[in-house]
Amino acid sequence: MNPNQGPNQESDPELSAAVLERAAHLREQLTHHLYLYHVLDAPEIADAEYDRLFDELLDLENTYPSLYSASSPTQRVGAPALEQFEKVQHARPMLSLDKATTREELEQWMQRCRNRLGDAALTFTCEPKIDGVAVALIYENGELTLAATRGDGNEGENIFANVRTIGSIPLTLSGEASRVAPKLEVRGEIYIPLDRFEAFNAAAIAMGEKPMVNPRNGAAGSLRQLDSKVTAGRPLTMFCYSLGGSEGHWQPQPQAEVLSTFAEWGLRTNPALEVVADLEQCLSYIDRLEQRRDDLGYEIDGVVIKVNDLGQQQLLGSVTRKPRWAIAYKFAAQEATSVVESVDFQVGRTGAITPVARLQPTFVGGVTVTNATLHNMDEIARLDLHVGDRVMIRRAGDVIPQIATVIIGQRPQNAQAVALPDGCPSCGSVIHRLDEEVVARCSAPRDFCPAQRKEGLKHFVSRLAFDVDGLGDKLIDQLVDQGLVSNSADLFSLSKDQLVALERMGQKSADNLLAALAVAKQTTLPRMIYALGIREVGEATAAGLARHFGDMESLLAADLDALEQVPDVGPVVAQSVLEFFAQPEHREVVSALQRLGVNWPTIEVIAPESLALAGQIWVLTGTLESMPRGTAKQHLIDLGAKVAGSVSAKTTVVVAGPGAGSKLEKAQSLGLQILSENDLLALLNQHEKEVT
Ligand code: IVH
Repeated sequence: MNPNQGPNQESDPELSAAVLERAAHLREQLTHHLYLYHVLDAPEIADAEYDRLFDELLDLENTYPSLYSASSPTQRVGAPALEQFEKVQHARPMLSLDKATTREELEQWMQRCRNRLGDAALTFTCEPKIDGVAVALIYENGELTLAATRGDGNEGENIFANVRTIGSIPLTLSGEASRVAPKLEVRGEIYIPLDRFEAFNAAAIAMGEKPMVNPRNGAAGSLRQLDSKVTAGRPLTMFCYSLGGSEGHWQPQPQAEVLSTFAEWGLRTNPALEVVADLEQCLSYIDRLEQRRDDLGYEIDGVVIKVNDLGQQQLLGSVTRKPRWAIAYKFAAQEATSVVESVDFQVGRTGAITPVARLQPTFVGGVTVTNATLHNMDEIARLDLHVGDRVMIRRAGDVIPQIATVIIGQRPQNAQAVALPDGCPSCGSVIHRLDEEVVARCSAPRDFCPAQRKEGLKHFVSRLAFDVDGLGDKLIDQLVDQGLVSNSADLFSLSKDQLVALERMGQKSADNLLAALAVAKQTTLPRMIYALGIREVGEATAAGLARHFGDMESLLAADLDALEQVPDVGPVVAQSVLEFFAQPEHREVVSALQRLGVNWPTIEVIAPESLALAGQIWVLTGTLESMPRGTAKQHLIDLGAKVAGSVSAKTTVVVAGPGAGSKLEKAQSLGLQILSENDLLALLNQHEKEVT
């Protein structure tokens, strides 16, 4: 698999039992944490901690080549590039699905199932139809040995090297898998979650690289890489949705249980699966899922309904590559064509210029779309977009609509190429485009450019910043256009007379706004830092800066070195903070806010080693009833504890809720301190001041 790291007993330095044990322990830990992170979405250690364990294992494996194991987590980073993909013959064809788009079609399908099966009781599974790439995984004796694309259904391509890099796909199955199903084929869909898609594209654009066109293309393209190191850098994950076949004495039954067993073995399955008994329940599932569609975090194009009983599936069989026992209910299309009427350039709060396509209003996936973001000039070049073009637009979840492709064949004669304007559309200043940046920016300082000023103020009053009720975008536009407000401090010296003179502003609204501003004056240091709108400083970074420095004066006094001491602040963020405060007008706004009575109390900076639970290792197991586990964990971390996923002799305290199993038993046998949820709550209350 990896020619550089094959077994080589001779050249190894003495391989002691201690080294073997340590390597096994590290592999077990890393595999466990990958599972928590990628499959359960509930990480229990920081990325840095994971990296430390990973590096330690890598070191050991480099020193002792005979430790090599194909299933080691270190083998997930990508193998040497392939010349081409091998062909793989599917043991059983990978089928496609028949479609239904109406209630009647679904009803007819259910009726056909009933007709063929006679009086037998019938239930169905309903699950999201993931918009990704279908893949088959082969596990032999619990080890992943092959992964293949669907191809033409009979023959796919071996994408094993790429699939091994995907953190949510176990290299080794846990539990009874290897014993009861020594040969197992698992099928499912590999896809890119929407948040990770956006983050990937933002980073790609910032580095001047090509963004992915959409999550599905991105997933397909990532799996098609001959160099698996490229795939390793892509945000792929997988939902497993069906059994391709198994050998051994596992007698899987029904479909819903196949999936819950998959989950027990460490495979990632979709939690949105439900078993329904009839058409009404099935339609209710479809309605509920369609309503949640934008919140799922991944793209779907419908619901897959399957006969739950595998025996009945077999009886029903298939016709022309489509099973009779399953159907895809398709949602309304999320794609449609429209015409680009113009391209406008918007100026953001940091001066970034974003082209936006104005479209002929078009109904897509339940909403009328009139705008699509174009990100930057490179994206316009990539699409070869002209004003007047007919384009394919795509809505993905609640993401802003995108232009997927330009239909070049329909380009009108008078189509106009798109160029960056000479000056900022708001203030006319020169537009800069630095070599290494993809983004073009207005070169004027924020206070000179009305667009930047407006966007800065909108950010200042937004929910996570000063959270001022009743100060909407239109009002801010008026305040700036009339010269009443030029920076955030000016908001707090507005008078009632000034406000009532504005359009659509009555006595009552003016009073309400003044009251809201008065309330907003009492804020917190993290919100205050976030509200300033420093480039690269989002909510989490602002909180980190606040916790580290404790007060504004210390932050203002910090140099590059001091800033880089803050957890998660790297050179780019540090530089951006430094540049922001180097501008006298920014410091002046901070003082003006203070003079006007805006108040952000100092945060007590507590040295990590003097926190109440410093040096302790806690484990949470079983269910917590009063708060989500993640919240409990955060509270404990805030108090200085480390929260681990497994119990060992090093564990200080185990909190056991209802349903606690093997971890509780282990804690008991090790004689560790065990707390109930009530004990935990009492402890958190006792330390409340430190926690908030
Ligand atoms: S079941 C015969 N379940 O849809 C069984 N397929 O149009 C077919 N798909 O090739 C697979 N989500 O790529 C199944 N929850 C799901 C699915 C799903 C997406 C895809 C799959 C398949 C295509 C069929």
